[in-house]
Amino acid sequence: LPTIEKQFADSLKSIARNLEIKEYIQQSPELYPLFLSSAKRFVTGESREDGVSIGDKLIHKGYRISLEFIGENTINKEECVRAKDEFIALVKECGNRGISSRVSFDLSHIGLSVDPELAYQNLLEMAKEAQSYGISLMISMEESAKTDLILSIYKKVVVEYSNVGVTLQAQLHRTLNDLNELLNYSGAIRIVKGAYQEPPDICIPRSDKLDQRYLELVELCVKADHQISIASHDEALLKQIIERGYLQNPYVEAEMLYGILPELSKQLKDDGLPVRVYLTYGVEWYLYLCHRIAEYPPNIYVAITDAIHG
Ligand code: FDA
Repeated sequence: LPTIEKQFADSLKSIARNLEIKEYIQQSPELYPLFLSSAKRFVTGESREDGVSIGDKLIHKGYRISLEFIGENTINKEECVRAKDEFIALVKECGNRGISSRVSFDLSHIGLSVDPELAYQNLLEMAKEAQSYGISLMISMEESAKTDLILSIYKKVVVEYSNVGVTLQAQLHRTLNDLNELLNYSGAIRIVKGAYQEPPDICIPRSDKLDQRYLELVELCVKADHQISIASHDEALLKQIIERGYLQNPYVEAEMLYGILPELSKQLKDDGLPVRVYLTYGVEWYLYLCHRIAEYPPNIYVAITDAIHG
């Protein structure tokens, strides 16, 4: 079954990136609302206001929030600049409304796939604006072919702007070394298991071994009193983290995606533990929906049910 699920996940990601299928759905008056209904479980909506207003409500319920304008692998320079402008508009909107959000994004959304220098310059501009509004930024981690580039851009920026953090994937063997080096920088670190299928020689598959590595990484951060987000929905893993008292450390928080196991994030929050909810918005919701189904194929049934009930 895991092989079938992996094939399904890979196929779904290819379908999601197929522009013809995407345009067909976007232009279909029948399919568009059905898919949008399914996406609404995971995505706040298409506009910045959708993300900010739902985020504001969550803050009032006691959560912290991250916000992302959805997009990745942008290959057109003008679109990268437009994405950067949208992130800056988001920073200003949150800052002006006193909404203490973290803004999260892929470097490939703001230029990495066009020219790394463009991504670096766009990030610098975002970091400067965000710092002036007291907002933090979090760089997502992408496939392993981009890890070196992402980390080198992060290191160049964080020495100037400590409000910028970066995500590390526990599944990559290299991450232990990367983390040891990144602990010398002041930016926050988000630890995830990793969403990309990577070759076995560089990657630990989902297993007890990966969970042990995840715990090892968290422990390193906790011992260093380094600011981290434990970004996972794995209840058993989170239980171990709580039992070790890590979530009581003032620098540590749990982070979960909007719409995924909301009862778990609520329970942690009600237990007095710090929980950040990761919210997304944007017209690229179709891509995001496919990622969530690919990551956890049973979500396909949830998506169909949501579509039927509108
Ligand atoms: P795992 O995949 O082992 O799942 C454990 C259990 O959690 C499952 O059995 C299921 O019960 C539940 N679950 C997990 N995913 C679910 C889903 N989609 N729907 C319903 N239930 C689900 N990755 C990356 O490579 N780069 C990045 O920058 C980020 N950023 C990021 C931010 C945040 C806030 C989160 C929570 C996650 C990411 N990820 C990511 C994704 C991450 O790498 C990973 O793919 C997912 O979190 C799923 O892994 P888990 O740790 O949840 O465990």
